[in-house]
Amino acid sequence: MRSKFLPESFPKQLELILRIFTSGRRSCRRGLAGIFTLGALATYIMISVTLRLNPQRTLPFEEDGPDTDADDAPVQRWYLTNASMQHVSPVQQDEVWHLWPKMQPNSDRIENQLLYRPKKKPTRIKLILSTERGLERPGHGRSCFVKKKCLVNHCKITYDWTKSAEADAILFKNNAPSEIHYGSTRPPDQVWILSLLESPHHTSEFSRLYGRINWTATYRLDSELVTPYGKWVVYDPKVLAKPQALDYGGRKAGKKKVAWFVSNCQTANKRLEYARELAEYIEVDIYGSCGSLKCPKKGKCGGKLLREEYKFYLSFENSNCKDYITEKLWFALENDALPVVMGPLRTDYEFVAPHKSFIHVQDFASPKDLADYLLRLDANDTEYNQYFQWKGTGCSTPTT
Ligand SMILES: *[C@@H]1O[C@H](CO)[C@@H](O)[C@H](O)[C@H]1NC(C)=O
Ligand SMILES: *[C@@H]1O[C@H](CO)[C@@H](O)[C@H](O)[C@H]1NC(C)=O
Ligand SMILES: *[C@@H]1O[C@H](CO)[C@@H](O)[C@H](O)[C@H]1NC(C)=O
Repeated sequence: MRSKFLPESFPKQLELILRIFTSGRRSCRRGLAGIFTLGALATYIMISVTLRLNPQRTLPFEEDGPDTDADDAPVQRWYLTNASMQHVSPVQQDEVWHLWPKMQPNSDRIENQLLYRPKKKPTRIKLILSTERGLERPGHGRSCFVKKKCLVNHCKITYDWTKSAEADAILFKNNAPSEIHYGSTRPPDQVWILSLLESPHHTSEFSRLYGRINWTATYRLDSELVTPYGKWVVYDPKVLAKPQALDYGGRKAGKKKVAWFVSNCQTANKRLEYARELAEYIEVDIYGSCGSLKCPKKGKCGGKLLREEYKFYLSFENSNCKDYITEKLWFALENDALPVVMGPLRTDYEFVAPHKSFIHVQDFASPKDLADYLLRLDANDTEYNQYFQWKGTGCSTPTT
């Protein structure tokens, strides 16, 4: 295994991603047409896995550590909610090339990373120091890895900066605290990881970290650790659609049409302008500070409202950036509303969403054309229900 696949391709890749996030924004488009969260825990899990892979970090116990009883037997896909039916072969140490960007074209590598199982048991617990604040923290110590039944759980988390010299990895989670002395010495084999959730349009400067980060952990598929907002895993790649017992269109017949829960009104992709134009041709109920409707129940726009009343939901992202697909998509899918998406290109959505599960604004010349199509689906349950045949063909990663 050693460094055969690892070192060379990284620095270039990393620099590119950092630049995109911190200044370039070339991955984002402007203009009109531009479940499920893996969230924080996934980042840690990926880190726990990849720390094991870093040759410089793992050499001591790969050479001297005891053999374990790890075998090639299939394991459960422990990260799925209904894992009992999902047995797959773990990725073994000699197959680490499955885990890195560039090595696996057209793959997000997420499952490979989550299924990685080292052949030898680590002899030491690795320490991850995180900059995460307050409520976002997934817990202290080893518990979250153990609770989740991760295949690699020889890691513990701390938030205590006095431990910075002992840490095997430092995770900069959407921030780079100013109290840290970035110029001071750091252990030569300590891995620094930058984890980002927002699009380049909403990411602040990280110039403090320039030239110091080893890995990125973001929703972008070309990050070292891919940690998107949601991950759909099909049970059987040959079965992408199946007959449904539920009449998704029929049960909402005669009710409401398009809903949107939104609070950020000014965005580079002008999604609000698009929605307002759409509303000239089909009923669009805009809840929250950008619209006239108030969310019921103490300002919370819940999925129940969507599930019971609306056929369509505007899953409009605040930025049209490569791979930037957030909980807005999963929220609609989870609540039996057909998502109308605006964000990255259709191909990006096709890669992450269930088969035929959304409508993309990119496919329509104007909001009016889109409205015409939505009205047609609204009037024809057979056509509307086609968009729900993915139900039951796979499983999403659990919400954290
Ligand atoms: C889990 O899998 C079993 C076996 O296929 C299936 O019968 C059951 O409905 C699934 N449960 C959920 C919640 O998807
Ligand atoms: C991490 O990056 C720093 C700064 O570029 C570098 O000096 C160090 O060797 C890298 N460490 C590892 C383990 O790759
Ligand atoms: C609904 O759509 C189906 C499939 O495209 C079509 O066969 C059917 O005639 C349509 N029904 C109506 C009432 O337009």
